[in-house]
Parts: sequence; C-alpha cells; structure tokens
Amino acid sequence: MSEAGVWDRLAGRYDSFVRLFDASYDQVRERLARDLPTGGRVLEIAAGTGQFTAALAIEADQLLATDISPEMVGRLRERVREAQLQDVDCAVMSAYDLDAPDETFDGVFCANALHVMDDPARALSEFRRVLRPGGVLVAPTFLHGVDSFRRALSRTLSLVSPFVAHTRFDLASLEESVASAGFEVVVAQRLPGLFPLGYVVAKPLVESQEQAPKKIEEDAP
Ligand SMILES: C[S@@+](CC[C@H](N)C(=O)[O-])C[C@H]1O[C@@H](n2cnc3c(N)ncnc32)[C@H](O)[C@@H]1O
Repeated sequence: MSEAGVWDRLAGRYDSFVRLFDASYDQVRERLARDLPTGGRVLEIAAGTGQFTAALAIEADQLLATDISPEMVGRLRERVREAQLQDVDCAVMSAYDLDAPDETFDGVFCANALHVMDDPARALSEFRRVLRPGGVLVAPTFLHGVDSFRRALSRTLSLVSPFVAHTRFDLASLEESVASAGFEVVVAQRLPGLFPLGYVVAKPLVESQEQAPKKIEEDAP
C-alpha cells in the first residue's frame, strides 16, 4: 500500500491513538511559538488532523498546512474551519515533492513524521530547498531508538498496529540526519514521553558561515 493509503486508513482513529503518545505536545506548542519566526509564511508538513495547526496559525501571517493523505487533509480542513483559523490553507502534498518554489517559506514545521517516512533524507532536502536563507526548521520527532526497551516496543507496535517507524532515531541520529541535509542544528532536546520526542530546531546552512551558534543540548525537565 502507498504511504498515503496507509494514513488514509488510519485518519479516523488518529486522534484517539495519538493521546497515548502526546505527553510533550503542549511543550511543543509553547516552544514552536518561541522558535519559529513571528509572522511570515510557514509551511506545515505532515500536519495529520491538525494537532499543531492552531498554534502555528497564531505565529504565522500565512500558514500552508499539508499532508500526503487526502483523508487526513479532509479532517484537517474541518478542524481549521471549526476553529475559524484565519490565513490558513490546506493541501495534499508529499514531503518528497513539495509544490513550492525554492526559498519560499520563513518557517517549516514537521511534527512526528520523519520517523514514519520511507525516505526522511529526501524530505529534509525538500525542507531545505523551500526555506529562505535565515528561515527556521522545527522538527519534533518521536525517538523509537533511544534504548532497547523503546526499540522492542517500537518493533512490537509495528507488528500489532499500522503505526510503523521506518527509522528508529535517537537524538544523535536525528540531529545527524538534519545536519546531513544542509542544516545547522541550533537546538536538540529530548522531551519526555512513552517514546521521547527529539525536539530539533535548525537553520539552512550558509556556506560562508564559519562558526555555528552555540547549540542547546539537554534533557528538558
Ligand atoms: C504520526 S502522524 C503525525 C501527525 C501530526 N503532525 C502530529 O504530530 O500528530 C504522521 C503524518 O505523516 C503523514 N505522512 C507520512 N508520510 C508522508 C510524506 N511522505 N509526506 C507528507 N506527509 C506524510 C501521514 O499522512 C500522517 O498524517
């Protein structure tokens, strides 16, 4: 089944399922307000049913919220309409092939999706392409590879449920993937949860940049 097809089938159950794992979602909502540029154009990738869309809409002048699954986008549109969010467009879009010119967005936000994608490197390279110089990527991602317990839990989940982690990141390998796509990682923090969240903030690397800003790396309380 295609990547979109898998998520189309899950869309109706997603909101109840995500409650098992959303211990750090409120922290992410607070942090994205601090870490994304205020105003400007923001692209949300893999928005799902819109867990973060309202928080992003407050920060952005214009928000384009996208997902590969038409069913997810249907529910996302409903949520945007019900919450009467202003200046938010929704679209079906694959992270591997973003329908946007180079250097279009001031911020790109992708929550809890890099680990479920077949090809996160391709997605990250697209995020890099559409970000303006000086723009910001915020990519909180579930870490299924932090220890042997989580790796075993992740393997079991993929056998008994449709939620499959294609990449079992720990914080270091998540950072490395983001950096390999041409980003400078400026924040990498582990937030608590059944599967911890790797909260990563990164900026497109500028060749002339000689010194990286000091990175904050710590376990958040
Ligand atoms: C675990 S859900 C995350 C949804 C939401 N961001 C959240 O944090 O609750 C993963 C989402 O990624 C989307 N997705 C998977 N592969 C994708 C791709 N290649 N491009 C865009 N979206 C994708 C799925 O349709 C699904 O909505």
